[in-house]
Amino acid sequence: MVNVNRLSNEFEKHFGSPKGAKIYFSPGRINIIGEHIDYNGGYVLPAAIDRGIFAIAKETNSNEIAICSADFSDEMIRIPIHNEIAPLPNMHWGNYPCGIVKYLRDAGYPIKGMYIYLESTLPKSSGLSSSACLECLIAAIISPQLLNDNASRISMALLCQRVENEFVGVKCGIMDQMSIALGKKDHALLLNTANITFRHIPIHLGEYIILIMNTKKPRNLIESKYNERLSECHHALALIKKHRPIENLVDATEADLTHIDDVVIYKRARHVIAEQIRVQKAVQALEEGNLFELGKLLDESHSSLRNEYEVSGIELDTLVNAARSVEGCIGARMIGAGFGGCAIALVHRDAVENLINYASNVYREKTGFTAEFYKCTTSDGVGIIGEV
Ligand code: GLA
Repeated sequence: MVNVNRLSNEFEKHFGSPKGAKIYFSPGRINIIGEHIDYNGGYVLPAAIDRGIFAIAKETNSNEIAICSADFSDEMIRIPIHNEIAPLPNMHWGNYPCGIVKYLRDAGYPIKGMYIYLESTLPKSSGLSSSACLECLIAAIISPQLLNDNASRISMALLCQRVENEFVGVKCGIMDQMSIALGKKDHALLLNTANITFRHIPIHLGEYIILIMNTKKPRNLIESKYNERLSECHHALALIKKHRPIENLVDATEADLTHIDDVVIYKRARHVIAEQIRVQKAVQALEEGNLFELGKLLDESHSSLRNEYEVSGIELDTLVNAARSVEGCIGARMIGAGFGGCAIALVHRDAVENLINYASNVYREKTGFTAEFYKCTTSDGVGIIGEV
Protein backbone atom coordinates (compact mmCIF):
# COMPACT_ATOMS: atom_id res chain seq x y z
CA MET A 1 0.00 0.00 0.00
CA VAL A 2 1.18 3.52 -0.68
CA ASN A 3 2.36 5.80 2.09
CA VAL A 4 0.01 8.81 1.87
CA ASN A 5 2.26 10.99 4.00
CA ARG A 6 5.22 10.42 1.72
CA LEU A 7 3.10 11.10 -1.36
CA SER A 8 1.82 14.33 0.22
CA ASN A 9 5.36 15.43 1.09
CA GLU A 10 6.57 14.78 -2.43
CA PHE A 11 3.60 16.68 -3.83
CA GLU A 12 4.37 19.61 -1.53
CA LYS A 13 8.03 19.73 -2.65
CA HIS A 14 6.95 20.24 -6.26
CA PHE A 15 3.60 21.99 -6.09
CA GLY A 16 2.96 23.46 -2.62
CA SER A 17 0.25 22.48 -0.15
CA PRO A 18 -1.53 19.19 -0.94
CA LYS A 19 -4.58 20.15 1.12
CA GLY A 20 -7.72 19.13 -0.77
CA ALA A 21 -5.80 16.78 -3.09
CA LYS A 22 -7.16 13.34 -3.92
CA ILE A 23 -5.27 10.04 -4.04
CA TYR A 24 -5.83 7.69 -6.97
CA PHE A 25 -4.76 4.15 -7.77
CA SER A 26 -4.67 2.60 -11.22
CA PRO A 27 -3.82 -1.13 -11.40
CA GLY A 28 -1.68 -3.10 -13.83
CA ARG A 29 -3.12 -6.28 -15.25
CA ILE A 30 -2.32 -9.92 -15.82
CA ASN A 31 -4.05 -11.97 -18.44
CA ILE A 32 -5.16 -15.35 -17.11
CA ILE A 33 -5.81 -16.64 -20.60
CA GLY A 34 -6.85 -15.46 -24.07
CA GLU A 35 -3.59 -14.16 -25.55
CA HIS A 36 -3.33 -12.27 -28.83
CA ILE A 37 -7.01 -12.67 -29.55
CA ASP A 38 -8.33 -9.28 -28.37
CA TYR A 39 -7.66 -7.90 -31.86
CA ASN A 40 -9.37 -10.93 -33.42
CA GLY A 41 -12.77 -10.46 -31.79
CA GLY A 42 -12.07 -13.07 -29.10
CA TYR A 43 -12.96 -13.59 -25.46
CA VAL A 44 -10.13 -12.74 -23.09
CA LEU A 45 -9.82 -13.26 -19.32
CA PRO A 46 -7.57 -10.61 -17.72
CA ALA A 47 -7.58 -9.36 -14.11
CA ALA A 48 -6.49 -6.06 -12.55
CA ILE A 49 -3.68 -6.55 -10.00
CA ASP A 50 -2.52 -4.93 -6.77
CA ARG A 51 0.53 -3.34 -8.40
CA GLY A 52 -0.02 -0.16 -10.32
CA ILE A 53 0.48 3.62 -10.27
CA PHE A 54 -0.54 5.87 -7.39
CA ALA A 55 -1.26 9.55 -7.95
CA ILE A 56 -1.89 12.55 -5.76
CA ALA A 57 -3.69 15.27 -7.71
CA LYS A 58 -5.17 18.68 -7.06
CA GLU A 59 -7.01 21.23 -9.21
CA THR A 60 -5.38 24.63 -9.79
CA ASN A 61 -6.40 27.84 -11.54
CA SER A 62 -3.50 27.66 -13.97
CA ASN A 63 -3.67 26.97 -17.71
CA GLU A 64 -1.68 23.78 -17.60
CA ILE A 65 -1.64 20.26 -16.27
CA ALA A 66 1.71 19.67 -14.61
CA ILE A 67 2.69 16.05 -13.97
CA CYS A 68 5.76 14.93 -12.08
CA SER A 69 6.80 11.27 -11.97
CA ALA A 70 8.91 9.67 -9.25
CA ASP A 71 9.67 6.84 -11.67
CA PHE A 72 11.37 9.13 -14.17
CA SER A 73 13.64 10.96 -11.69
CA ASP A 74 10.91 13.46 -10.80
CA GLU A 75 10.76 14.62 -14.41
CA MET A 76 8.00 17.19 -14.86
CA ILE A 77 5.86 17.54 -17.96
CA ARG A 78 3.57 20.51 -18.56
CA ILE A 79 0.55 20.15 -20.80
CA PRO A 80 -1.15 23.37 -21.95
CA ILE A 81 -4.91 23.00 -21.61
CA HIS A 82 -5.87 25.57 -24.26
CA ASN A 83 -3.07 25.26 -26.85
CA GLU A 84 -2.14 22.65 -29.46
CA ILE A 85 -0.82 19.37 -27.99
CA ALA A 86 1.57 17.37 -30.21
CA PRO A 87 3.32 14.05 -29.50
CA LEU A 88 6.81 14.21 -27.96
CA PRO A 89 9.57 12.25 -29.75
CA ASN A 90 10.98 8.81 -28.83
CA MET A 91 8.13 7.12 -26.98
CA HIS A 92 8.43 9.60 -24.12
CA TRP A 93 6.22 8.64 -21.13
CA GLY A 94 4.68 12.10 -21.31
CA ASN A 95 2.95 11.16 -24.56
CA TYR A 96 0.33 9.13 -22.70
CA PRO A 97 -0.89 12.03 -20.55
CA CYS A 98 -0.57 14.47 -23.49
CA GLY A 99 -2.73 12.23 -25.67
CA ILE A 100 -5.32 11.72 -22.94
CA VAL A 101 -5.67 15.47 -22.33
CA LYS A 102 -5.95 16.18 -26.05
CA TYR A 103 -8.52 13.44 -26.72
CA LEU A 104 -10.65 14.31 -23.67
CA ARG A 105 -10.63 17.97 -24.70
CA ASP A 106 -11.52 17.10 -28.31
CA ALA A 107 -14.39 14.94 -27.00
CA GLY A 108 -15.78 17.97 -25.15
CA TYR A 109 -14.84 17.10 -21.57
CA PRO A 110 -14.13 20.23 -19.48
CA ILE A 111 -10.39 20.39 -18.69
CA LYS A 112 -9.06 22.25 -15.64
CA GLY A 113 -5.53 23.04 -14.51
CA MET A 114 -4.06 20.27 -12.32
CA TYR A 115 -0.97 19.38 -10.36
CA ILE A 116 -0.28 15.64 -10.37
CA TYR A 117 2.47 13.59 -8.70
CA LEU A 118 2.91 9.92 -9.72
CA GLU A 119 4.58 6.96 -8.05
CA SER A 120 4.51 3.41 -9.42
CA THR A 121 4.80 -0.12 -8.04
CA LEU A 122 4.38 -1.60 -11.51
CA PRO A 123 7.47 -2.56 -13.53
CA LYS A 124 7.58 -0.69 -16.86
CA SER A 125 7.65 -2.36 -20.30
CA SER A 126 7.11 -5.77 -18.71
CA GLY A 127 3.82 -6.88 -20.19
CA LEU A 128 1.81 -5.79 -17.15
CA SER A 129 0.26 -2.84 -19.03
CA SER A 130 2.01 0.10 -17.45
CA SER A 131 0.96 2.26 -20.40
CA ALA A 132 -2.76 1.47 -20.20
CA CYS A 133 -2.47 1.91 -16.42
CA LEU A 134 -1.08 5.44 -16.88
CA GLU A 135 -3.63 6.32 -19.58
CA CYS A 136 -6.63 5.29 -17.45
CA LEU A 137 -5.16 7.00 -14.38
CA ILE A 138 -4.77 10.36 -16.12
CA ALA A 139 -8.22 10.07 -17.71
CA ALA A 140 -9.76 9.35 -14.29
CA ILE A 141 -7.98 12.32 -12.67
CA ILE A 142 -8.90 14.80 -15.37
CA SER A 143 -12.48 13.61 -15.91
CA PRO A 144 -13.62 11.85 -12.72
CA GLN A 145 -17.12 11.47 -14.19
CA LEU A 146 -15.58 8.66 -16.27
CA LEU A 147 -15.53 6.62 -13.05
CA ASN A 148 -19.27 6.98 -12.43
CA ASP A 149 -20.62 3.75 -13.87
CA ASN A 150 -19.71 0.87 -16.17
CA ALA A 151 -20.82 2.68 -19.32
CA SER A 152 -18.55 5.65 -18.48
CA ARG A 153 -15.69 3.30 -17.67
CA ILE A 154 -16.09 1.59 -21.04
CA SER A 155 -15.95 5.02 -22.73
CA MET A 156 -12.78 5.73 -20.77
CA ALA A 157 -11.19 2.45 -21.91
CA LEU A 158 -12.09 3.11 -25.55
CA LEU A 159 -10.73 6.67 -25.44
CA CYS A 160 -7.49 5.46 -23.85
CA GLN A 161 -7.11 2.77 -26.52
CA ARG A 162 -7.58 5.42 -29.24
CA VAL A 163 -4.86 7.53 -27.66
CA GLU A 164 -2.49 4.56 -27.71
CA ASN A 165 -3.43 3.55 -31.28
CA GLU A 166 -3.45 7.01 -32.85
CA PHE A 167 -1.50 9.49 -30.70
CA VAL A 168 1.22 7.18 -29.33
CA GLY A 169 1.09 4.96 -32.42
CA VAL A 170 0.87 1.48 -30.86
CA LYS A 171 -1.82 -0.70 -32.42
CA CYS A 172 -2.88 -2.55 -29.23
CA GLY A 173 -6.25 -4.24 -28.70
CA ILE A 174 -8.77 -3.24 -26.02
CA MET A 175 -7.96 -5.84 -23.34
CA ASP A 176 -5.54 -3.79 -21.23
CA GLN A 177 -7.58 -0.62 -20.95
CA MET A 178 -10.78 -2.57 -20.22
CA SER A 179 -9.20 -4.64 -17.44
CA ILE A 180 -7.86 -1.51 -15.77
CA ALA A 181 -11.10 0.45 -16.17
CA LEU A 182 -13.40 -2.41 -15.10
CA GLY A 183 -11.31 -4.62 -12.83
CA LYS A 184 -12.90 -6.05 -9.69
CA LYS A 185 -11.11 -7.47 -6.65
CA ASP A 186 -11.19 -11.30 -6.49
CA HIS A 187 -12.52 -11.46 -10.03
CA ALA A 188 -11.29 -11.80 -13.58
CA LEU A 189 -12.93 -9.92 -16.42
CA LEU A 190 -14.40 -12.11 -19.12
CA LEU A 191 -14.40 -9.66 -21.99
CA ASN A 192 -15.96 -10.21 -25.38
CA THR A 193 -13.79 -8.00 -27.57
CA ALA A 194 -16.15 -8.38 -30.55
CA ASN A 195 -18.86 -6.28 -28.91
CA ILE A 196 -17.19 -4.92 -25.70
CA THR A 197 -19.50 -6.71 -23.28
CA PHE A 198 -18.16 -8.33 -20.14
CA ARG A 199 -18.89 -10.43 -17.08
CA HIS A 200 -16.86 -10.67 -13.87
CA ILE A 201 -15.80 -14.21 -13.01
CA PRO A 202 -14.98 -14.94 -9.33
CA ILE A 203 -11.48 -16.29 -8.72
CA HIS A 204 -11.16 -18.72 -5.81
CA LEU A 205 -7.65 -20.09 -5.76
CA GLY A 206 -7.77 -21.66 -2.28
CA GLU A 207 -4.23 -22.69 -1.38
CA TYR A 208 -2.84 -21.62 -4.75
CA ILE A 209 -1.57 -18.24 -5.80
CA ILE A 210 -0.70 -16.55 -9.06
CA LEU A 211 3.00 -15.72 -9.14
CA ILE A 212 4.23 -13.19 -11.68
CA MET A 213 7.67 -13.95 -13.12
CA ASN A 214 9.39 -11.00 -14.81
CA THR A 215 12.11 -11.85 -17.36
CA LYS A 216 13.51 -8.29 -17.04
CA LYS A 217 14.61 -8.67 -20.64
CA PRO A 218 14.75 -5.32 -22.42
CA ARG A 219 12.04 -5.50 -25.06
CA ASN A 220 13.14 -4.16 -28.44
CA LEU A 221 11.24 -4.53 -31.67
CA ILE A 222 8.13 -5.51 -29.78
CA GLU A 223 5.88 -3.13 -31.69
CA SER A 224 7.00 -4.28 -35.10
CA LYS A 225 6.55 -7.93 -34.06
CA TYR A 226 3.12 -7.12 -32.63
CA ASN A 227 2.06 -5.36 -35.83
CA GLU A 228 3.41 -8.28 -37.86
CA ARG A 229 1.11 -10.69 -35.95
CA LEU A 230 -1.79 -8.29 -36.39
CA SER A 231 -1.37 -8.23 -40.16
CA GLU A 232 -0.85 -12.01 -40.30
CA CYS A 233 -4.25 -12.37 -38.61
CA HIS A 234 -5.83 -9.90 -41.06
CA HIS A 235 -4.34 -11.93 -43.87
CA ALA A 236 -5.77 -15.19 -42.47
CA LEU A 237 -9.20 -13.61 -42.10
CA ALA A 238 -9.15 -12.28 -45.67
CA LEU A 239 -8.28 -15.73 -47.03
CA ILE A 240 -11.10 -17.40 -45.10
CA LYS A 241 -13.60 -14.69 -46.02
CA LYS A 242 -13.20 -15.58 -49.68
CA HIS A 243 -15.05 -18.81 -48.80
CA ARG A 244 -17.23 -17.99 -45.82
CA PRO A 245 -18.46 -14.61 -44.54
CA ILE A 246 -17.10 -14.62 -40.96
CA GLU A 247 -16.57 -11.36 -39.14
CA ASN A 248 -13.62 -12.13 -36.87
CA LEU A 249 -10.80 -14.66 -37.01
CA VAL A 250 -12.02 -16.31 -33.79
CA ASP A 251 -15.22 -17.29 -35.66
CA ALA A 252 -13.19 -19.55 -37.96
CA THR A 253 -13.26 -23.34 -37.59
CA GLU A 254 -10.60 -25.98 -38.23
CA ALA A 255 -12.32 -26.63 -41.56
CA ASP A 256 -11.86 -22.97 -42.60
CA LEU A 257 -8.12 -23.36 -42.10
CA THR A 258 -7.91 -25.56 -45.20
CA HIS A 259 -8.25 -22.35 -47.24
CA ILE A 260 -4.93 -21.07 -45.89
CA ASP A 261 -1.96 -22.42 -47.83
CA ASP A 262 0.77 -20.32 -46.19
CA VAL A 263 2.26 -22.33 -43.32
CA VAL A 264 2.98 -19.34 -41.10
CA ILE A 265 -0.46 -17.75 -41.54
CA TYR A 266 -2.02 -21.17 -40.92
CA LYS A 267 -0.21 -21.53 -37.60
CA ARG A 268 -1.24 -18.05 -36.45
CA ALA A 269 -4.89 -18.76 -37.22
CA ARG A 270 -4.75 -22.14 -35.50
CA HIS A 271 -3.50 -20.48 -32.32
CA VAL A 272 -6.33 -17.94 -32.42
CA ILE A 273 -9.04 -20.59 -32.81
CA ALA A 274 -7.62 -22.89 -30.11
CA GLU A 275 -6.96 -20.05 -27.66
CA GLN A 276 -10.57 -18.91 -27.91
CA ILE A 277 -11.75 -22.43 -26.95
CA ARG A 278 -9.28 -22.48 -24.06
CA VAL A 279 -10.76 -19.25 -22.66
CA GLN A 280 -14.21 -20.82 -22.52
CA LYS A 281 -12.81 -23.95 -20.85
CA ALA A 282 -10.87 -21.80 -18.36
CA VAL A 283 -14.02 -19.94 -17.34
CA GLN A 284 -15.74 -23.26 -16.74
CA ALA A 285 -12.75 -24.52 -14.77
CA LEU A 286 -12.75 -21.40 -12.57
CA GLU A 287 -16.49 -21.64 -12.02
CA GLU A 288 -16.16 -25.31 -11.03
CA GLY A 289 -13.10 -24.63 -8.87
CA ASN A 290 -11.08 -27.04 -11.02
CA LEU A 291 -7.63 -25.48 -10.68
CA PHE A 292 -5.79 -28.45 -12.20
CA GLU A 293 -7.80 -28.03 -15.39
CA LEU A 294 -7.05 -24.29 -15.35
CA GLY A 295 -3.33 -25.05 -14.94
CA LYS A 296 -3.42 -27.46 -17.86
CA LEU A 297 -5.01 -24.78 -20.04
CA LEU A 298 -2.27 -22.30 -19.07
CA ASP A 299 0.35 -24.84 -20.16
CA GLU A 300 -1.42 -25.43 -23.47
CA SER A 301 -1.73 -21.70 -24.07
CA HIS A 302 2.00 -21.26 -23.55
CA SER A 303 2.87 -24.08 -25.96
CA SER A 304 0.62 -22.56 -28.58
CA LEU A 305 2.11 -19.08 -28.11
CA ARG A 306 5.58 -20.58 -28.41
CA ASN A 307 5.05 -22.99 -31.32
CA GLU A 308 2.15 -21.59 -33.34
CA TYR A 309 2.10 -17.87 -32.65
CA GLU A 310 5.85 -17.58 -32.02
CA VAL A 311 5.81 -14.74 -29.54
CA SER A 312 7.66 -16.41 -26.67
CA GLY A 313 11.47 -16.69 -26.56
CA ILE A 314 14.28 -18.24 -24.59
CA GLU A 315 13.69 -16.03 -21.55
CA LEU A 316 9.97 -16.69 -21.18
CA ASP A 317 10.36 -20.37 -22.04
CA THR A 318 13.13 -20.82 -19.47
CA LEU A 319 11.08 -19.29 -16.67
CA VAL A 320 7.92 -21.17 -17.62
CA ASN A 321 9.72 -24.52 -17.91
CA ALA A 322 11.61 -24.02 -14.66
CA ALA A 323 8.39 -23.12 -12.84
CA ARG A 324 6.57 -26.13 -14.31
CA SER A 325 9.25 -28.53 -13.09
CA VAL A 326 8.73 -27.51 -9.46
CA GLU A 327 6.32 -29.67 -7.50
CA GLY A 328 3.27 -27.63 -6.53
CA CYS A 329 3.21 -25.57 -9.74
CA ILE A 330 0.18 -26.69 -11.74
CA GLY A 331 0.44 -24.41 -14.78
CA ALA A 332 2.44 -21.52 -16.23
CA ARG A 333 2.46 -19.35 -19.31
CA MET A 334 3.73 -16.11 -20.79
CA ILE A 335 1.30 -13.18 -20.70
CA GLY A 336 0.82 -10.05 -22.77
CA ALA A 337 2.45 -9.32 -26.10
CA GLY A 338 5.49 -11.55 -25.43
CA PHE A 339 9.13 -11.29 -26.63
CA GLY A 340 10.16 -10.84 -23.00
CA GLY A 341 7.99 -9.30 -20.33
CA CYS A 342 6.24 -11.49 -17.79
CA ALA A 343 4.84 -14.98 -17.30
CA ILE A 344 2.49 -16.25 -14.61
CA ALA A 345 2.60 -19.49 -12.64
CA LEU A 346 -0.27 -21.09 -10.75
CA VAL A 347 1.48 -22.48 -7.70
CA HIS A 348 0.66 -23.93 -4.28
CA ARG A 349 1.50 -21.36 -1.62
CA ASP A 350 3.87 -23.79 0.14
CA ALA A 351 5.89 -24.21 -3.06
CA VAL A 352 6.34 -20.51 -3.87
CA GLU A 353 9.74 -19.94 -2.22
CA ASN A 354 11.08 -23.14 -3.69
CA LEU A 355 9.90 -22.13 -7.14
CA ILE A 356 11.44 -18.66 -6.86
CA ASN A 357 14.82 -20.06 -5.75
CA TYR A 358 14.94 -22.72 -8.40
CA ALA A 359 13.65 -20.63 -11.31
CA SER A 360 15.94 -17.67 -10.46
CA ASN A 361 19.02 -19.88 -10.53
CA VAL A 362 18.12 -21.72 -13.72
CA TYR A 363 17.20 -18.44 -15.38
CA ARG A 364 20.38 -16.61 -14.41
CA GLU A 365 22.54 -19.49 -15.56
CA LYS A 366 20.81 -19.79 -18.89
CA THR A 367 20.21 -16.16 -19.85
CA GLY A 368 22.47 -14.01 -17.69
CA PHE A 369 19.46 -11.93 -16.58
CA THR A 370 18.09 -11.73 -13.05
CA ALA A 371 14.36 -12.45 -12.94
CA GLU A 372 11.96 -10.79 -10.52
CA PHE A 373 8.96 -12.47 -8.87
CA TYR A 374 5.81 -10.87 -7.47
CA LYS A 375 3.06 -12.63 -5.55
CA CYS A 376 -0.01 -11.04 -6.93
CA THR A 377 -3.58 -10.53 -5.88
CA THR A 378 -6.40 -9.06 -7.92
CA SER A 379 -7.67 -5.54 -7.44
CA ASP A 380 -10.46 -3.13 -8.30
CA GLY A 381 -10.15 -0.99 -11.40
CA VAL A 382 -8.84 2.59 -11.43
CA GLY A 383 -10.40 4.87 -8.81
CA ILE A 384 -10.08 7.40 -6.01
CA ILE A 385 -8.74 5.77 -2.83
CA GLY A 386 -8.38 8.72 -0.48
CA GLU A 387 -8.20 12.44 0.17
CA VAL A 388 -5.67 14.71 1.91
C1 GLA B 1 -0.63 -6.34 -25.51
C2 GLA B 1 -1.78 -5.52 -26.09
C3 GLA B 1 -3.12 -6.19 -25.80
C4 GLA B 1 -3.12 -7.65 -26.24
C5 GLA B 1 -1.88 -8.37 -25.70
C6 GLA B 1 -1.75 -9.78 -26.26
O1 GLA B 1 -0.71 -6.34 -24.11
O2 GLA B 1 -1.78 -4.22 -25.51
O3 GLA B 1 -4.15 -5.49 -26.44
O4 GLA B 1 -3.19 -7.76 -27.65
O5 GLA B 1 -0.69 -7.67 -26.01
O6 GLA B 1 -2.81 -10.56 -25.83
